[in-house]
Amino acid sequence: MKVCVVAGARPNFMKLAPVVKALEGRGAEVVIVHSGQHYDPMMSDIFFEELALRVPDHHLGVGSGSHAVQTGSVMVAFEPLLHELKTDTVVVVGDVNSTVACALVAAKAGVEVAHVEAGLRSRDWSMPEEINRVVVDRLADTLLAPSPDGVENLLAEGCPAERIHLVGNVMIDTLLTHLDQARSRPIRDQLDIEDGEYGLVTLHRPANVDDPSVLAGIARALVAISESCRLIFPAHPRVAGRLAEMDLGPRVTVIGPIGYMDSIALQSGARLVLTDSGGIQEETTVLGVPCLTLRDNTERPITISEGTNLLVGRDPERIITSAELVLAEGVERRRPALWDGRAAERIADALLGS
Ligand code: UD1
Repeated sequence: MKVCVVAGARPNFMKLAPVVKALEGRGAEVVIVHSGQHYDPMMSDIFFEELALRVPDHHLGVGSGSHAVQTGSVMVAFEPLLHELKTDTVVVVGDVNSTVACALVAAKAGVEVAHVEAGLRSRDWSMPEEINRVVVDRLADTLLAPSPDGVENLLAEGCPAERIHLVGNVMIDTLLTHLDQARSRPIRDQLDIEDGEYGLVTLHRPANVDDPSVLAGIARALVAISESCRLIFPAHPRVAGRLAEMDLGPRVTVIGPIGYMDSIALQSGARLVLTDSGGIQEETTVLGVPCLTLRDNTERPITISEGTNLLVGRDPERIITSAELVLAEGVERRRPALWDGRAAERIADALLGS
């Protein structure tokens, strides 16, 4: 069987790596396509190197743009390639613009679509990712859900049950494979921080970083929290320039984007994590680290009901109070079923037959 696996943006790469390995381990011919949505070395190449993911067979080189420009550019570039490749299936992961673009092209070309991370819903239509998720799941022939809530959402939307497979969380496959190696990284020494004595911050959602008044409020909360817990903030390109203009005080350290290994190293030693990332909500759950999610909703509710995640929104006072509570009391450590490091094997079973 010939499978085309597509990725485009930072959160795709760690989901792709175990899927490629599992499919190739079963003898499938795998073609890796990179859309080029993320292109800076620290947003893309470093993940391929660290995860020992081979260089993509095809690079579409689309780069940044508005949603229409970016999605349209991926479609225009992917369509002729897909015709040339003649694959049986296109596997798309996650919820970024490259995901929906390639799913649309494949569905219209009559090629089977498989979606890794199917069924997640925030029910927040202001998030571009929510639109991407719903469209991709409507198009996909094989829906690979990470958690039971994903299965319930898909069934409630009328997806045929035979298309849906509860496979677990492939992101956790990558985490468990690399955790020991990540923890031996020197980044904590380089930043002069000790395990359990700092917090980690990541923010990149437009709703948090594009409106200066919202970002200023969050920054005020971070400065207040940093008085009792030093904070490390690796900045996504979307927010880096804006942070450079702000005074975050002496105990919030802003650094450039970091690779996968350093991200896991910093998460695993943190007293708490403040984030608006989807994947970090999942990783902190498995690492047992308290996670405050600076959003009003999450497409990953299982990280709240069965993990270490708390939704705290973007009100500065609420963020500060929640951080104080978590720093004083910690959170209970739990792990959802099937987040066990074997999700990619179950995906290969679903796609190739066990
Ligand atoms: C995208 C995804 C988001 C994901 C995030 C992870 C969509 C709709 N959004 O958001 O779901 O959580 O990736 O990072 O697909 N830029 C660079 N270098 C790069 C890439 C981007 O400097 O390598 C800058 C550009 O100024 C660009 C901006 O970041 O305009 C935003 O990039 P884009 O890919 O449009 O969205 P993200 O915010 O990264």
